[in-house]
Parts: sequence; C-alpha cells; structure tokens
Amino acid sequence: MIEHGFGGVFQGRRVFLTGHTGFKGSWLALWLAELGAEVHGYALAPPTQPSLFAEAGIESRLASHRIADVRDAPALARALREIQPELVFHLAAQPLVRHSYAEPRETYEANVMGTVNLLEAVRGVDTVRVCQVVTTDKCYENREWVYAYRENDPLGGYDPYSSSKACAELVVSAYRRSFFPPEHRVSLASARAGNVIGGGDWALDRIVPDCIRALEEERPIPVRNPQAVRPWQHVLEPLSGYLLLAARQWEEPARFADAWNFGPTAAGHLTVRELVELLLAEWGEGAWEPPPGEHATPHEAGFLKLDITKAHNLLGWYPVYSAAEAVRASVEWYRERHDSGAAVAEMCVRQIEAYSECARQAGLPWAAPVPAAV
Ligand SMILES: NC(=O)c1ccc[n+]([C@@H]2O[C@H](COP(=O)([O-])OP(=O)(O)OC[C@H]3O[C@@H](n4cnc5c(N)ncnc54)[C@H](O)[C@@H]3O)[C@@H](O)[C@H]2O)c1
Repeated sequence: MIEHGFGGVFQGRRVFLTGHTGFKGSWLALWLAELGAEVHGYALAPPTQPSLFAEAGIESRLASHRIADVRDAPALARALREIQPELVFHLAAQPLVRHSYAEPRETYEANVMGTVNLLEAVRGVDTVRVCQVVTTDKCYENREWVYAYRENDPLGGYDPYSSSKACAELVVSAYRRSFFPPEHRVSLASARAGNVIGGGDWALDRIVPDCIRALEEERPIPVRNPQAVRPWQHVLEPLSGYLLLAARQWEEPARFADAWNFGPTAAGHLTVRELVELLLAEWGEGAWEPPPGEHATPHEAGFLKLDITKAHNLLGWYPVYSAAEAVRASVEWYRERHDSGAAVAEMCVRQIEAYSECARQAGLPWAAPVPAAV
C-alpha cells in the first residue's frame, strides 16, 4: 500500500470508476486500490490491444468490474444501486479527436448522454457524496491565441470530440444547479486535464503511442502537426489532481463543487515537434517525418494552453514533473516492458511511488504521509 496519501480519505471507501479499462482509468484504479479504496469498475472492454488493463492485471485489484456501456442508462443505474458507492469518478468516453470525425454520433452519445445517464444514476442512490466528471482541456472555445484558458472562459469545440466534452461540461453545470445545490449530499465537480503522456497508452493517433510503435518497429515517427502547442503532462499529474479534488470535495463538499483545470506549468506547453525531439533524445535513436497525404488531415487546434492558477491557489495542487521528466518516465516504462518483459503492475506502482515521493519532496500537502491511526 502507498503511504503518501490525500489525508487517508480513500482508505476503505467504496469507489465507482467508469472507464477503468482505459489508459487513465487503469492507472487510477491501481492508485485508488493502493490507497486502500474498494474500487468497482464500469466500462466497455479495453479499447486497445495491448492494453494496460490486461497487462497490469487491473481486474485482480478491483472489488468488482462490469463490461458495460454508459449509453445503457438502466444498466448504469442498476450498477450504482447494487454497489452503493461513496465516490464516483466518470472517465468513460470516446476520447479521440480524429475518431470523432468518423463517428460523431457515437462520440456525442457516449460523452454527452453517457454523462447524463451517470448523473441520473447518481441521483438514484443516496450513498454518493462525491462525483467527478472528467472532461478535457479541449472543452474551451479555441481562439488560437497565446493565452492559457481559464475555467471561466467560454466553452466550445470545433470537432465533435471537443464539442461533446463542452456539452458534458454544460450538463454538469446544469445538474449542479438543478439537482445538486450546495446543501445537497452530492458534491459534483468537473476536471479538465491537458494532453496526457505515460506508459501503457496504445491509442491510435496519440503522439507518444505513435512514437513508441514507430521506434519499436525501427521506422520514422509520423508527426501530423509538428508546430501544434499542447499542455503535455505525465498521466500521474492529472490523476493526482482528480484524487486531491475528490479528497477536498469529501472534506468540504460545497466549496469544491466546481470546474478545475489540471495542466502543466508554462514551461510544459511544448510543440509536438519539441515533445517528439525530447522523446527521441530519451530513446537514444530514431527520426520523425510528416505523414504522407498530410493535406488530407482533419482540423486540429494549433494552439492550446491551460491555466492552472485556480487549482494551485485553492486546492494546493501543482505539477511535479517537468516535460523532460514526464517524457523520461514514459520512455522508461515502455523500454522496461519491451526489454525485460517487466511485471507491468509492479512497474506502475513503482512509478506512482516515485511520483508521490517527488511530490512530497516538493512540499505538496497531498503527498504527506498519512498519520498512523491512534
Ligand atoms: N488521454 C488524454 O490525453 C486525455 C486528456 C484529457 C482528457 N481525457 C479524458 O480522460 C478520460 C479517459 O481517457 P483515456 O485517455 O484513458 O481514454 P481510453 O480510450 O484509454 O479509455 C476510455 C475508457 O472509456 C471506456 N468507454 C468508451 N466508450 C464507452 C461507453 N460507451 N461505455 C462505457 N465505457 C466506455 C473505454 O472502454 C475505456 O475504459 C476520457 O474521458 C478522456 O476524454 C484524456
């Protein structure tokens, strides 16, 4: 068990986690289990092959798990009624911009109605005290300007994915005001994270998995938008934000029921090219090139920055890793798996411990060891 930990809030708590078979969901399930939570998962089958869910044996760390659809409102409501969770993290979504151009209806159904179905299910059980909906940095109306987006900037979205997540934000806001006002037992928050990198992601059209696939096959990395700027962060950064936010919601429900950005420091906003070159330096060899037929790629935002002043000032959350450290941790993960077939779950736990230790050394309050019970 991990000793650092969010004031011990998760110890023995019953947690319902959607999207537990995905990249971020698998890491979060593992971290919650290590913090002593009783984790119940609800998601479709792992979206990739290989998957972190299978490789790390996440199923064995869960109290229960269902392969089920968030678009299936009765099944979702039944799951919550049976499990009676105290905390809910909603990560299940169709999360890819390019896939959303191919499947807009599926994207809106999963991301918007999936969120409505989840919140309706939460209304139907009286055990839930904390509910957190994970959206994205892409929920803001992107103006292609140099300023970082703050939580009170207008929502929007050019492509169906971004727009569906802005819609999910509006759903959360309406439910908070209509059904979960400050005096209500449920504290409802949303979390908007940046572009996540880290071991265990094999999604299509994401830059780090694209790099690793190409490097392992000894071919140049296809880079679509080398000049695009993104708020890159290691996967453990937003997850520490989600956990801290949930812990604060648990302690002061009304105060933290709001929308929160979790992104890198200003120095962590790099172009795709800069990120790929950091990764190549860490890997030690390889090259990148624009993919053939580049003119045919659908629109993706050119400039996207996230402002984290609010999370820093009000939650006491702050990023732990620099961009170079985030890339190093990611490359180490894939390298170790590739070279030695290392036990993946142990590798992930080791990375969570190392990250928590760096956070403790940086003086972040969430990472202080939990005092022993008297
Ligand atoms: N990876 C990133 O860079 C990033 C950045 C910001 C926000 N996010 C958000 O974080 C969350 C997790 O993303 P990820 O990167 O782990 O994606 P992922 O594709 O690895 O995982 C998605 C999860 O959702 C599940 N899912 C998809 N459709 C579903 C449905 N209809 N019913 C039930 N389950 C369904 C999948 O089975 C999987 O468990 C998403 O909400 C995503 O929008 C991701």
